[in-house]
Amino acid sequence: MTQLRGDGHVHLADYAAPAWRIPHAELQFELDPDATVVSARLCLSPDPAQPGQPLELDGEGLELLDITLDGQPLAPGRYDYDGRRLVVHGLSGDCELATRVRIHPAGNTRLEGLYRSGDLLLTQCEAQGFRRITFMADRPDVMPRWRIVLRANRDAFPVLLANGNPLASQDLGDGRHEASWENPHPTPAYLFAIAAGPLERVSRRLQTAEGRDVEINIWAEPSDVARCQYALGAVERALRWDEQRFGRCYDLDVFNVVAAQDFTMGAMENKGLNIFNARYILADESTATDADFLAIESVVAHEYLHNWSGNRVTLRDWFQLSLKEGLTVFRDTEFSSDLHSRALKRIEVVRLLRGRQFAEDAGALAHPVRPDRYKEISNFYTLTIYEKGAEIIRVLHTLVGEDAFRAGMDRYFADNDGKAATLEDFIAAHAAASGRDLTQFARWYAQAGTPEVSVSADFDGASGDYTLTIDQNTPPTPGQQHKQPLVIPLRYRLFDADGTSVTQAPESDAVVRDGLVELTAARHVLRWRGLEDKPLPAFNQGFGAPVKLVFDQGVDELARLVRFETDSFNRWDLLQRLATEALLARPQAEAATGALSDALAGLLTDAQADPAFVAECLVLPDFDTLAEQLDEVDVQALVARREELLDRLAEDQVGRLQVRYEALADAAREGLSGRAMSARALRNACLAWLTRLDPEARLAQAQFDAGGTMTERIAALRCLLHFQAPGADAALAGFRDAHAGDPLVTDKWVALVATRPHPDALGDVQSLMATPWWKPANPNRVRALVGSFARSNPLAFHRLDGAGYQLVADQVAALDAVSPQVAARLLGAFESWRRWAEPLRARARAALAPLDGRLASPDARDLLERLLD
Ligand code: PHE
Ligand code: ZN
Repeated sequence: MTQLRGDGHVHLADYAAPAWRIPHAELQFELDPDATVVSARLCLSPDPAQPGQPLELDGEGLELLDITLDGQPLAPGRYDYDGRRLVVHGLSGDCELATRVRIHPAGNTRLEGLYRSGDLLLTQCEAQGFRRITFMADRPDVMPRWRIVLRANRDAFPVLLANGNPLASQDLGDGRHEASWENPHPTPAYLFAIAAGPLERVSRRLQTAEGRDVEINIWAEPSDVARCQYALGAVERALRWDEQRFGRCYDLDVFNVVAAQDFTMGAMENKGLNIFNARYILADESTATDADFLAIESVVAHEYLHNWSGNRVTLRDWFQLSLKEGLTVFRDTEFSSDLHSRALKRIEVVRLLRGRQFAEDAGALAHPVRPDRYKEISNFYTLTIYEKGAEIIRVLHTLVGEDAFRAGMDRYFADNDGKAATLEDFIAAHAAASGRDLTQFARWYAQAGTPEVSVSADFDGASGDYTLTIDQNTPPTPGQQHKQPLVIPLRYRLFDADGTSVTQAPESDAVVRDGLVELTAARHVLRWRGLEDKPLPAFNQGFGAPVKLVFDQGVDELARLVRFETDSFNRWDLLQRLATEALLARPQAEAATGALSDALAGLLTDAQADPAFVAECLVLPDFDTLAEQLDEVDVQALVARREELLDRLAEDQVGRLQVRYEALADAAREGLSGRAMSARALRNACLAWLTRLDPEARLAQAQFDAGGTMTERIAALRCLLHFQAPGADAALAGFRDAHAGDPLVTDKWVALVATRPHPDALGDVQSLMATPWWKPANPNRVRALVGSFARSNPLAFHRLDGAGYQLVADQVAALDAVSPQVAARLLGAFESWRRWAEPLRARARAALAPLDGRLASPDARDLLERLLD
């Protein structure tokens, strides 16, 4: 079982294989919201290498009704159950343990284990929720084959779903019915799922590349089923893509997906029965934005792709979490990039990394992609595990190349199919397939913190020798003072005076190939000889390594690079650098502003540029991205500078913004085509800038009144609310009433209220909490109101009087008793508190320190300790 050391942590180094195996499990549910009875039969088999061990099973708060061994009631002296762990003594060879327990789904607000959402009964088991359903070795390296029987009242629960393939169903005569399911693939308990209730579906049949007939179903409550069609198409696209790009086929006769209004996370990849947060399934043009559609497609793909990276090959233990999550994010990102614009996807990912993952990796909660100890594994579903984990896979891909990478993946799947694997298994498969020593590469998993790559350049005019000295350094993080060099594939390019690439290869002590240097030591030198002029260098094209580049480059050089660079992502990145120079009040701020403005003028009049790309260039680095680059953050000053710059740029561009806004009106009406989405993106970006110059917000009001898609309505409403336009209140009321029955659209306006960029938004949030719109048991609503307040409203969260911090701390304490995982996540907003300038730092401490006595569950406690440590 999970071993706790004296320090209250589980340690990677303490891993021990399970003493008992469970090759087969049979579960029977008598479903009832108030009291569900679960009968379980576990076939047990001792590990021959560890004979004579007692059997230990997890079981959290279960009411034990019956327990038998090989059909015989177990005498009370033969077992102990302390409410968390069941220990059975005196077992020797293969045997069968049967238990009956009672659980209470309707009272389960934690949303782990079996719970009620609306009229549905659902499960969520990752990471350790299964133990709240029945007794089990609840660890991912125990992988039974499962049979599941569900019984319930037919009227209340007409549809009964479980993992795997349907076996049979029958009426039980007394108003109840029964359905049985079989999951033939060895599957750990965290991937177990059932769903029951008045579900309806959209459905599609197809045949896999291996010739298997598969039925895909998306299930939702009847009022929602009309909005499932898009997600259904996304499943098919993901399935086909995994066949083509990775040669992986689906392996059951059905693939079921259920949409739930109450769900702690985004979605869950349970074998053959994915359960989704409804926000990542339900969509039509009048309720979902274009960004929602893309997010739905990507999350649907993510969960589908887990069927191989996570389910067929699962995890040995939770320290390996990134083995499935980083890899699957890498795969879903490739999926989106192959289907849509690779550059736009890269921009989206890099924004997330620089804004949020870098901050996490530099703050109090920093941890390696493979942590070596944890208190609460539920606190490790982080941007570091997911997004940095995916970037590390991208590093590997760059180092070995697409062909060897694909061969390595094939080998990984072949060697580990049906098993519980480790990151070492993954790395070994890739080392074998590529013939490359990946020992140093593995350090990426062990070391926390974002590496800094500093470059200095020297040109000797007499000899024409040009030298780049490249240093890498990873800063200390909690518990890790000293770091070793990583293998960093750094792209570089030198331009000559007229923008042609210098093709001469440099001399170097590092491996250099084709515009890429493999940094492996703390310092490397690259030297070119006999160049005619001083070249213009650029680095880390495509953001090929998740590092911070430190290189002093003048605005004139950056501006020349913008002109020379043809790759969209790299151009966007250069504009972000110009904006950063302007925003961080560096000496060249004024020159940077001018260069940025010129570049934007060029982009706005460039008929060839994809409008969605131009829109991205209009979005300056966000508050988090900027704050992360400062040792001490004066929140109010930073926000003010950003607003000033936006005002100034908007004034510079006003004519061009108006022209583009008008000219794209027709294209914006073309439904869900890429062209229409792209047009709407640029129109909305123009609108946001134009509204700065128009206190009446007439254009935003007109766009709001015109109706149109949710993409257009919500962008207009944001302008009205955030610039406090005269029509804001009326528009909000109209929008709110028009969508009163739709929780997902309600979340959208709630988030707009919570993010109004003004300290007074605090009062609006408090007022909202006194209305029926505040639903603390619904995680989406908590995120929309409190999460977006804390994460996306710097002026209100960081109020100088500390009231913003206090509001969030109070909510953590209140929600801790309702849904501990959701409460704990809110604390992440404090991860950088030590860098906030006084008086904010003192205010943050004053809000956090007293929380200690107000938290009952270990989830938020664990984070609080790490924050204050
Ligand atoms: N494994 C889920 C995913 O893909 C996330 C999740 C974790 C969902 C824990 C629920 C609980 O990414
Ligand atoms: Zn995942």
